[in-house]
Amino acid sequence: MKLKQLQHLAYGIATFVPGVNDLHLKGRGGTDSARYCYSVWLRHLVMAKKNGLNPDPKIVAELGPGNSLGVGLAALIAGGDKYFAFDVVEYANAEKNQKIFDELVELFKNRTPIPGEDEFPQVKPCLEEYEFPAYILDENRLQYALEPSRIEKIRNSIGDFQHKDSLIQYKATWYDTSGLEKESVDMIYSQAVLEHVDDLEGTYRAMYLWLKPTGYISHQIDFKCHGTADDWNGHWAHSDLMWKLMRGSQPYLINREPHSTHIKILSEAGFKIICDLKYELESRFTTSELAPKFKSISGDDLIISDAFIQAVKKTEGNYRSR
Ligand SMILES: C[S@@+](CC[C@H](N)C(=O)[O-])C[C@H]1O[C@@H](n2cnc3c(N)ncnc32)[C@H](O)[C@@H]1O
Repeated sequence: MKLKQLQHLAYGIATFVPGVNDLHLKGRGGTDSARYCYSVWLRHLVMAKKNGLNPDPKIVAELGPGNSLGVGLAALIAGGDKYFAFDVVEYANAEKNQKIFDELVELFKNRTPIPGEDEFPQVKPCLEEYEFPAYILDENRLQYALEPSRIEKIRNSIGDFQHKDSLIQYKATWYDTSGLEKESVDMIYSQAVLEHVDDLEGTYRAMYLWLKPTGYISHQIDFKCHGTADDWNGHWAHSDLMWKLMRGSQPYLINREPHSTHIKILSEAGFKIICDLKYELESRFTTSELAPKFKSISGDDLIISDAFIQAVKKTEGNYRSR
């Protein structure tokens, strides 16, 4: 057994001991950094603009914000009216969010270039250029967005999620579609989250229900092994029993679903894909060396390490042209 597999196995088994999960869950994810959150939000916006989607979404929802609500705070600062966040673990706290919020405001005020591959080499999607996107956030939009009373209102909403006037709604556990009104959201996004979601069908269905007919989804998905194997795609070689033990009682691990599963499920849920930007890595495995469950994986899936997907609801016309 390889080293990383062994470490994960030991950890997975340890999580059956009460309290071990709580210790480990503190401090996961990249949203501890304001510059990371700023970079992620602007990358989703730049890609939206490039793909002919609305780069000024007013009502946004995020799946799996992680350590802070920073990406959603960036969405509000950039002109959003309301932000909904859905996670399965409550990580975010008011003090951390306020600090990140203040740093984000400065980044926008300074028209800071988008932190790129040198600073965040693992973050996708990669952009053609990382200049501040003034063609999206022009002076008119920024003047409105950074108006002091507006900024104060967003700041006051942090940590006041229960108040009916709060611009932020944070649900740290969500399992069904009741979290949001039907057809109420302009954009639903996630960064490095959909590879962790256990119920992919239910989640894509919920997104379809929540999205306005004119809205879109925007997701970065990382298909790599997340440290569960020595090779980036070694998680597909672990047997089901091994995987069960590695997961232990953790609230989430990774779902091991490859790129084509997401495409299939989101199409079946009623989405039409606008952008499917795929990143590839070499595989040391052939499909015959994978666990039985993954032997039928396609050659394409075997080498797709990440994808950035934007999609809209299918309309009558779209259905006809398929
Ligand atoms: C790798 S972290 C990414 C966090 C953050 N988006 C970032 O860019 O750093 C994965 C996040 O997905 C969340 N998650 C896992 N399963 C989820 C689900 N079913 N619904 C919503 N969030 C989920 C986790 O709690 C965690 O916050």
